[in-house]
Amino acid sequence: MKQEFLDKKVALIKNFISPEHAAECVHELRHTRMSPSDWDVAPNASSIYNPTFGLEIMCDKNSLINEIVGEYLVPTYCFSRIYRTGDTLPKHEDRAACEVSLTIHLDGDEEWLFGCFDKQLSLNPGDAVLYLGHLVPHYRVGPYRGKEYFQFFMHYVRTRGCHKKVYFDKEKRLWGSDMAVNEKKLMEELYGI
Ligand SMILES: [Fe+2]
Repeated sequence: MKQEFLDKKVALIKNFISPEHAAECVHELRHTRMSPSDWDVAPNASSIYNPTFGLEIMCDKNSLINEIVGEYLVPTYCFSRIYRTGDTLPKHEDRAACEVSLTIHLDGDEEWLFGCFDKQLSLNPGDAVLYLGHLVPHYRVGPYRGKEYFQFFMHYVRTRGCHKKVYFDKEKRLWGSDMAVNEKKLMEELYGI
């Protein structure tokens, strides 16, 4: 992996998709049946696993993200959530399928800062933040004060890394269980420690 990305651990990518494309994703979400809240910290949210527009973006952007991080990645899954008033996102790290993650802002009626490692970032529709999901704690600053906030997430693993077995999220899909994050091996592979 590129040393610059390993050192910074997080990269803001302005206009990762165009604002128009982000608006199309929001339109699709508004017309798609979504599941009720998947997480008690965001009781008013709704979500969808592998939305169609998301699968398209995830595959389309794969080679670009390979180039940014300097390593061959393969998709695991994508996800979209609509947060609503009072929902939160406490500081956390992600499961094995989220070795390299992107959060992409689609729309919102209020500012909601995204905290990641040593940064708090303001996102416009179409902007993405790329980060190492196991090693970088991430969160939102405070509860959401607006009405609706549309966010989309994409996750990848390295084809030659210690979590490669979960490509296409197949452990979860086939057996309903998640592989444990091997942080020791990951640190050894990425940072040589
Ligand atoms: Fe996360």
